[in-house]
Amino acid sequence: MKRRNFLKNTGTATAGLISVPLLGACEKKKAVNTITNSIETIRPIVICTWDFMNASAKAWEVLQKGGNALDAVEQGVMVEEADVNNQTVGVGGRPDRDGNVTLDACIMDKDGNCGAVLCLENIAHPISVARKVMEDTPHVMLTGTGAEQFAYEQGFEKTNLLTEQSKKEWLEWKKTSRYEPIINIENHDTIGMLAIDKNGDISGACTTSGMAYKMAGRVGDSPIIGAGLFVDNEVGGATATGVGEEVVRTVGSFLIVELMRQGKSPQEACEEGVKRIIGKNSDHTDFQIGFIAINKKGETGGYCIQPGFTYRTYSQAGHKNNPSDSYINS
Ligand code: GLY
Repeated sequence: MKRRNFLKNTGTATAGLISVPLLGACEKKKAVNTITNSIETIRPIVICTWDFMNASAKAWEVLQKGGNALDAVEQGVMVEEADVNNQTVGVGGRPDRDGNVTLDACIMDKDGNCGAVLCLENIAHPISVARKVMEDTPHVMLTGTGAEQFAYEQGFEKTNLLTEQSKKEWLEWKKTSRYEPIINIENHDTIGMLAIDKNGDISGACTTSGMAYKMAGRVGDSPIIGAGLFVDNEVGGATATGVGEEVVRTVGSFLIVELMRQGKSPQEACEEGVKRIIGKNSDHTDFQIGFIAINKKGETGGYCIQPGFTYRTYSQAGHKNNPSDSYINS
């Protein structure tokens, strides 16, 4: 197993660290589907936040060829990471208030294995580094320069993430804005993606450049397992977009999966997740949160605090942009 090799190769590993219990924890038995009691009925499907048609189409292409859900979500979100015109993910993302583009991403597989990178600079595909953290290290999260160094060791190339467009907008913002983050000054377009493959197994990925003009070092929900993304292969998965601070406070994606475990549909669970956030905020008119979820049966749901949120599904039935129900601020 790669984790074992990593520990052997570090030179600092002790016999205690290369313990069977540690490895055994990630070698779970095949999940039992507690909702449908059958994985026979399951058909591949991918869903993602917002109307990222090209990303969901890429993931669907992987699933259609018989690929697994983990590969599908990784390759799907990579489409947005590479798109310089998407200023909230990957290359072209808006920088922090100091002009540095810092990326957050996480990934989670059917066995509960997960990996994340936080505040990663100069790397075009944080989701792939997150996957490497999951598969090739004994850790779940790497941050900042440690994550960047790890990426180089894994063969990732140094890339300038700040495009001329994002630099121009940042310089403009500096002229007029207060030198502090303003909630939702930008429209969050974080991509979170969930997929079910032909075996009925679920994986998820989430990647973002985070809140525009954030304080240096700020991390949102997107790389936090349980907040920006959570998958339990027995139940389903959920992922978030919007102001990460609010999602972290309620461990939003974990909450939604637990609500589905208790019998709620993905739609009902997303609505409850949003309402928990609303309940903790006397003024929820100035920020946006959206959740999407999928259960083991392939049923989907999405809900947002503000109108205008959509999520995309791609399945045998074709691809569809689903305008989600929204909580209407009163
Ligand atoms: N949801 C993305 C962020 O808050 O960073």
